[in-house]
Formats: sequence, structure tokens, C-alpha cells
Amino acid sequence: MNPQTAERLAIWLDGTHVADLLRDPRASHKPYGLQYTEAITDTLDTGALCLSASLPVSRRLLVSKPKGGANRTGPVDHWVAALLPEGDALAIMENNAGLARGDTFGFLRRFGHDCAGAVAFLPPGETPDTRSLPAAEQVDLAEAINQLPYYPIAGYEHDDGLSLGGFQAKLLLTLDTTPEAFPNTATENPEPPVDPSADNRRWIKPRLNAPSTHICKPDPVEGTTVGLVISEAVAMHALRHAGIDAAQTDLLDIEGRPVLLATRFDRETDGTAITRLHQESFCQAVGVAPTDRFQRFGGPTYAQLAELLLSHGLDPDTEQQALLAQVTATVAVGNTDAHGCNYGLLLRDGSARLTPAYDVANTTAFLPRRAEGHRIAIFPDDKDRLLYVGRKSLIAEASRWGLPTKVASAVVEQTIAGVLDGIADAANHYSKWIDSADPTRRTNAEQAVEQMNSHATRLAATSETP
Ligand SMILES: Nc1ncnc2c1ncn2[C@@H]1O[C@H](COP(=O)(O)OP(=O)(O)OP(=O)(O)O)[C@@H](O)[C@H]1O
Ligand SMILES: [Mg+2]
Repeated sequence: MNPQTAERLAIWLDGTHVADLLRDPRASHKPYGLQYTEAITDTLDTGALCLSASLPVSRRLLVSKPKGGANRTGPVDHWVAALLPEGDALAIMENNAGLARGDTFGFLRRFGHDCAGAVAFLPPGETPDTRSLPAAEQVDLAEAINQLPYYPIAGYEHDDGLSLGGFQAKLLLTLDTTPEAFPNTATENPEPPVDPSADNRRWIKPRLNAPSTHICKPDPVEGTTVGLVISEAVAMHALRHAGIDAAQTDLLDIEGRPVLLATRFDRETDGTAITRLHQESFCQAVGVAPTDRFQRFGGPTYAQLAELLLSHGLDPDTEQQALLAQVTATVAVGNTDAHGCNYGLLLRDGSARLTPAYDVANTTAFLPRRAEGHRIAIFPDDKDRLLYVGRKSLIAEASRWGLPTKVASAVVEQTIAGVLDGIADAANHYSKWIDSADPTRRTNAEQAVEQMNSHATRLAATSETP
């Protein structure tokens, strides 16, 4: 790729122009290149952590190496691809913007102003401050959710460029924290109001310099996953109850449909300004395509994530224990979907921390029954089915990372006990939501809670001796 003739898109990291994404105008789409700016190469050492563990700071142009044949992609392409939604949402947004399928560069130019983590993509010459922005506009939540099938992620036609990974339908919002938005209450409501209609938060459309602060996931209206967001709300509550650092989630009732509301852990606000904190997924950190997120398709292993925490973590021991707690909890609730895009790293000042847990739900209740048990996304101690994973496998997996058996055993014990207790607390907390749901949703949500209990109970009963 010739940097002189390449098309460029500036990559901003929380207000600093840190790199350019380059595309060869003669090549169809990929591979892309990434060039750190002098602002970065003059201040950070070569090899330092900035945008991604898979893209260490370098003065050289980082180009994904074509591997030959049809596979012409590599870390830069995988890293940017992970910022885009998947499935229907991606296809609809590409279509709305008149983009060719798979034109990641074009997609980010159009929609990459607010992504996972602190990155924002802008045309060369523009800065976050010079873009003229319309005044904050309030969002009608019900209307935006109804518009999601046509305008994914934004929920309205003329969005300001929002992108987020994942298959499920979702909406990005910014919590209005101006005093007028809270006539009666002072702060954000961390847990679901007992009466859903009592929720009086006001929402505004995210803008480049008023980044989204929350993610809404409406429950599917039909199909096999109706009730999945209730399962997620219950599981996330159970994890928090067990003392695991997990994203704050809440359920909203929008015209009778449960909507999961997650507070973004990659945003920080002091009441007036919102700051983006950088994060990347485990797939991005190891340079694996988001499509390869499952270990059985060549995706990352837990040992690799543990290794990243060891080499980049400020306190690797604590980070690895947090990872073990997340892995144990995900097995305990019967989550088969804890793949490489559902674990992440928070990157700050050249070091990494595990992100809070997110996207954790019981999934087995939504899958066909399998005599040989359900496959899991990443294999603890090489066990590829949920039912094969016992306390022994979790402790053995952590020993491979270098955690002493005694420490690992204590984390596993404490997590299982906490999650079991947490499921009961969560089921009670969400009983009104489950009992008043439509018949299919209610049945599925009840089964999800039942399955969580049975997986956690089974895990607690397994032998501990490695
Ligand atoms: N609370 C949160 N704070 C910050 N980022 C989040 C949070 N929850 C999710 N994300 C980011 O958004 C992405 C999509 O969210 P999520 O995984 O919940 O969606 P999904 O569509 O259910 O995913 P999947 O494709 O795994 O089913 C995540 O991969 C992560 O990068
Ligand atoms: Mg996910």
C-alpha cells in the first residue's frame, strides 16, 4: 500500500488524533493499513499499548498481511470489523448508506463517530470540536425502538454516526443529566423501578461530543429467543449479587415489551461532560476476526486472555482472579455464548484491565435439547461442552494461567455460592416481570431461571479435586 495515495480516515481516541486508517483506492476493500500519528509515536514507546494489544505502537505502517488465496485480511481488518454490528443490522445500515457489502472503511466513515471504547473515526481535517452539531434532541424511546428494524442502533433516520458490535437489535442513547431532566429525582436510577412507569429518566440522541451512555436491547417479539433479555437481566443481577464486577443493567417496560438497559462501562461522566474510556474485545486484542469468536472455529482460548492480563495488566493476579470469577459465573448460569467478543479489556495509560462482565445470560433454555450437552464458546480445560465443565476443570484452567490452586479454588467456590444465591435474589427481584409477561415470554423466562438454577447446582455438586 502506498501511504501517499491511500484514502485516509482519522482515528480519534478521546479527543486525540492517534492514528489513520488507510485504504488502497485501487484494492477492492482490504487489507487496510493503520498508521499511528507523530503525536503518539513521539510520546509513546514502540510496542506500547494504545488502540489495541494486537496493534502495538509503531512508526511503521501496520498492514494486515494478505495470507494469499481468498483470505486477504489480518489484525487491522479484524480490529475495525469488530466495531461494526452484525447480521441484519449491518446489512440494513449498509443499504441505508448506499455502501457495498463488506465496505468497513465506508461504514466507519459514515457511522464510526461513536463506537465501543473511546475511538471515533472522522474524515481528515475534521476534529471533534470543529464539527457543527445540532442541539441535544430528546428521544422518544418507544418510537426509536419501533424504528430499529429500519434504522438499527440509532432508531431514527438522520443519525450522527453510531456503531456497536453484536447480533442482537440495539439502540444507543445518552442519558440527559441536565438539571431540567430530573424535576423530582437527582441521579440515575441504578435498579429497575418497582413500577416501570415510574422511570422518569430523559434520553437524548448521542452526538460526537455527547457520546452514548447507555445501550438498550429490546426483547425479540418472535422466534426462539423471546424472553432472552429477561434471562440476561436475571443473570447479570445474579453476577452483581455474587460480587462480580458486571455492567449495570436494568429492565424497562416499553409498550409491554421488556427492554434491557445497560449502562456503558466505557463512559464516564462528571454530571456535565461525558468521557469515553477505551475498551476492546478479546477477539480484537488477539487479532482474530469477530466471525471467528468461537474457539471451535479457531477463536481465542482462555489461556490467551489470561496471558494478555499477565503481560498488560497492572495487577495481573487480581485481573486473572476476576477472569476466573467471570468464567465460573458464566458456566454457572448456563451461558454457552461467552465468546471472544463477550470478554473485553479496558485500556488506559498503556495497561489493561478486564472489563466488567457483559452479555451474560442463560442461553441453554433457548437452544434445542441435546443429549450430549450444549457446546460452549470457549473451553475451560479443553472441555467443549457445558456439562463437562466442573469445578475441577475451572481450577485446572486457572492453574495453566499460573494461579495457585488454593487461590483458584477459593475464587471458584465463592463465585458458585454467590451466583446460586444471586439467582434466587434475581428471580425474586424480577418476578413481577416474569409473571406478567406474555405466555411464550413467561415460559421461556421461567425456563431460563430454572436452567440457571440447575447449572449452578450441578456445578456446586461437582468434585473439586483437580
Ligand atoms: N455495558 C456495556 N458497556 C460498554 N460496552 C458494552 C456494554 N455491553 C456491551 N458492550 C459492547 O457492545 C457490544 C455488543 O453488546 P452485546 O454483546 O450485549 O450484544 P449482542 O448483540 O447480545 O452480542 P452477541 O452477538 O454476542 O449476541 C459488546 O461486544 C461490547 O463491545
Ligand atoms: Mg455480545
